Amino acid sequence: MALFCHDIQEKLPATASVTDFDQIRAAAPAGEPERQQYFMEADRAYFTARFEQMIASGEALSRYGKERLEEMQKNGRIGTVDVVTFGCQMNARDSEKLLGILETIGFQEWESEDADFVLYNTCTVRDNANQKVYGRLGYLRTKKRNNPQMLIGLCGCMMQEPEAIEKIRRSYSHVDLIFGTHNIFKLAEILFERIANGKMTVDIWESAKEIVEDLPVERKYPFKSGVNIMFGCNNFCSYCIVPYVRGRERSRKPDEILDEIRKLAADGVIEVMLLGQNVNSYGKNLSEPMTFAALLRRVNEVDGIKRIRFMTSHPKDLSDELIDAMRDCDKVCHHLHLPLQSGSSRILRKMNRKYTKEEYLALVDRIRFAIPDISLTTDIIVGFPGETEEDFQETLDVVRRVRFDSAFTFLYSVRRGTPAAAMEQVPEEVMKERFERLLKEVQQIAGEVCGRETGQVRRVLVESLDDHKDGYVTGRLENNIVVHFPGDETLIGTIIDVVLEESKGFYYMGRALPKG
Ligand code: SAH
Ligand code: SF4
Ligand code: F3S
Repeated sequence: MALFCHDIQEKLPATASVTDFDQIRAAAPAGEPERQQYFMEADRAYFTARFEQMIASGEALSRYGKERLEEMQKNGRIGTVDVVTFGCQMNARDSEKLLGILETIGFQEWESEDADFVLYNTCTVRDNANQKVYGRLGYLRTKKRNNPQMLIGLCGCMMQEPEAIEKIRRSYSHVDLIFGTHNIFKLAEILFERIANGKMTVDIWESAKEIVEDLPVERKYPFKSGVNIMFGCNNFCSYCIVPYVRGRERSRKPDEILDEIRKLAADGVIEVMLLGQNVNSYGKNLSEPMTFAALLRRVNEVDGIKRIRFMTSHPKDLSDELIDAMRDCDKVCHHLHLPLQSGSSRILRKMNRKYTKEEYLALVDRIRFAIPDISLTTDIIVGFPGETEEDFQETLDVVRRVRFDSAFTFLYSVRRGTPAAAMEQVPEEVMKERFERLLKEVQQIAGEVCGRETGQVRRVLVESLDDHKDGYVTGRLENNIVVHFPGDETLIGTIIDVVLEESKGFYYMGRALPKG
């Protein structure tokens, strides 16, 4: 059997084997994405040879079991991979790209850490995200002892912090490959280097060099997808590490975004989520500047797309032009995630958020005036340095006035190198006590607000069969609230009218209306 596919074989001496790493490396094309496509083929050849050895020695049979092994062979799979995502939607989208590359190499997705290759796409926005990764790495140590061929990879935001890399080198030497946020497109090449070098391979870029498009993506859902419209962040909120680990703000060109959305629509996607740390500043640094509102209007024109969402909006940049576009565009969901962070103008200033309590409330009024049925959700941090009881009361006041559909509440977490890390910290017990009070308030209001559409008919995108009830399906309203109602799998991926018969606090039970 030929070891390499035709494209690679052409570039190599006829006698080259999958372990002639120097020769393979030397023949790699310089330009992207061709270079990564080449390494995907080289990796595939290597893992195919290894898989065949495992079959010959009987190891594959004991490892995968008869049924699974036969299925893998039938589908041309050469091993299993588990990509575990921590953090936000941006990371989730990156994981789809990583999985796309790994499936092209020949790995089969296997959602368990018993896989041949476990890749953690990490987050470092709060310390508990980091601790989770260290905990899981400790657990993988025993797994690797039982299966020395196992590969462990780390990538994403946490890897952009030199202290994390140092700690992993020191205490978690069983990790095989490490890369960051700026070079995820290079996964195939980094994997190749790991195989060639036989030791931990680390490749971190301090900043983004290029945006490589046109690599494979393995979407989690056939009918909905995230679409990056920009990368990085320039806001430097004083508590936040994202600008340091994701780099400066870069917008993708509108034509590239629209092309991607058209292709997704042709592939059956009906809902897109436009992704960026601050979508409201989209396009400012393009050679031909364009506003987010203008982009939204163009996405609204794409045939086949039925729902448009976006994340996240920074209140300081939310323009009236955007409110008008949201009101006018029929496909844009009437849902806005508008992180408040704090209700105290004094704290907001120290956070470098560039709006006041009054400006936030006035913005909410303008949005609600234009789009009365808008659903508002938010993020709130409790215990930012210097927060007093009075400041906290201001946050509660905003929560009570706005009545958010839901709010993600976070305990302030010190991030090394950020300005807030050097400020005077709030004692932990004070923070926790405030957190409990905020959570209670937020949940009570959400419980009241979420049931407000009971008895009404709403459009629902059906996402899956109901996990808990036979003969039922689960879908989402425009405002992201879940609805369960009788139905079967033929409804998955379609949008239908549903009567919201009963509110269960954070979800509804409903009944589908006949089509027509
Ligand atoms: N770009 C988005 C948020 C990205 S991070 C925005 O500006 O809204 C997601 C949320 O994590 C933030 O909204 C904030 O509430 C929270 N967060 C960020 N840094 C934090 C920290 N150091 N401690 C606690 N929460 C934090
Ligand atoms: Fe962090 Fe602020 Fe940027 Fe959001 S806008 S990612 S909170 S720095
Ligand atoms: Fe976390 Fe990175 Fe997102 S730090 S929240 S995964 S941008």
